[in-house]
Amino acid sequence: MLIKQAEFVKSVADNNFYQSDMSEIAFVGRSNVGKSSLINFITNRKKLAKTSSTPGKTKLINYFIINNSFLLVDLPGYGYAEVSKKEKTNWAKYLEEYLRTSKNLKCVYLLLDIRRTPTNQDEQMLEFLYFNRIPCKVVVTKIDTLSRSQVASHLIIICNKLGLNKEDIIVTSSWDKKGLDALLKDIEHYVSS
Ligand code: GTP
Ligand code: MG
Repeated sequence: MLIKQAEFVKSVADNNFYQSDMSEIAFVGRSNVGKSSLINFITNRKKLAKTSSTPGKTKLINYFIINNSFLLVDLPGYGYAEVSKKEKTNWAKYLEEYLRTSKNLKCVYLLLDIRRTPTNQDEQMLEFLYFNRIPCKVVVTKIDTLSRSQVASHLIIICNKLGLNKEDIIVTSSWDKKGLDALLKDIEHYVSS
């Protein structure tokens, strides 16, 4: 699939989710894992989704329209310590509601930093997706930060922790532009199914 068009559509701060007939592909994961960067990488637009080295940048649900036919959805990151407890609870609620109720949601990509062991929240998110029968896939980010052999050993740790096979995981680096073909092929499969 070629991405010929990518445009910001809407930001949503609560459960007033964007309604359309288009398929949705969403990105979830810890704050700072690289969700917004991955969207920019996929769409080949440097500043389509706002990125930041400070965790907690994406506090809204941001929708982007692709090729005038489907939506990429940038979700707020979890595990960010600096937000208030109340804000956290609200966000967890909206995030869950979005995932449970979005009828056109075709796939959720759960992003994991190759350098980190998946957290309890990562595991809970995956279990939540399985439980609600939401198609999902793990994407590992930032492989440019490790050597090839380190990437291989960290992948084994991630697979063991989450009960996945290596083949189930898409391995990427937005900085080194790695994994684009595999990811686009996967997205294409879900939006056309
Ligand atoms: P929140 O919006 O806070 O949830 O974060 P996010 O998951 O959207 O992360 P974002 O894309 O803003 O990236 C966070 C930081 O990681 C930024 O400093 C990025 O430059 C950096 N980053 C993103 N992708 C990569 C990558 O492939 N390699 C490296 N080395 N750094 C990356
Ligand atoms: Mg973000």
